[in-house]
Amino acid sequence: MPDGNDSPSPPEASPRLAQGREHIVATVDEIPPGASKVVPIGRHGVGVYNVNGTFYAIANYCPHEGGPLCSGRARGRTVVDESVPGDSVMVRDNEFIYCPWHQWGFELATGTTAVKPEWSIRTYPVRVLGDDVLVTA
Ligand code: FES
Repeated sequence: MPDGNDSPSPPEASPRLAQGREHIVATVDEIPPGASKVVPIGRHGVGVYNVNGTFYAIANYCPHEGGPLCSGRARGRTVVDESVPGDSVMVRDNEFIYCPWHQWGFELATGTTAVKPEWSIRTYPVRVLGDDVLVTA
C-alpha cells in the first residue's frame, strides 16, 4: 500500500544536518587554504571554502539551471589589464566559485553573480572556534 510518498530518496553519504542551527562541519585542518568541503545541510548541501585563511559558506545550488555549484572551480575574476591594451588579468584568486555547467561565477563572500545580480544565492555565517569550523545554516 503506497504511503503517498512515491518519490525515492536520493542516496546519502551522511545524514542531513538540521537547518537553522550552527553546526561543526569540519576541523580547520580538513579545509586548508585553497580547499573546500560540501557539507550535508539542506536539500543541496553547503560548500565551505577556505580562502587564504578566511572561511566562507555558500549554497551548493546554481540558480541558473540548478547545477551543483560547488563541484565547480574556485578561482579569481578576470578584469581588464590597464597596463596592457587589450589584455586581462586575474584578480582576487579563489574568491569566486564557477558553476561547472555554464560557468556563471559567484562571489563566495556575498553569493552575488555579475551575470544576473538578482539571482544571487545564499551564503551562511562561518566562524572558527578552536580547531573547529562552524556554519550557521
Ligand atoms: S546551471 Fe550553473 S551556470 Fe548554468
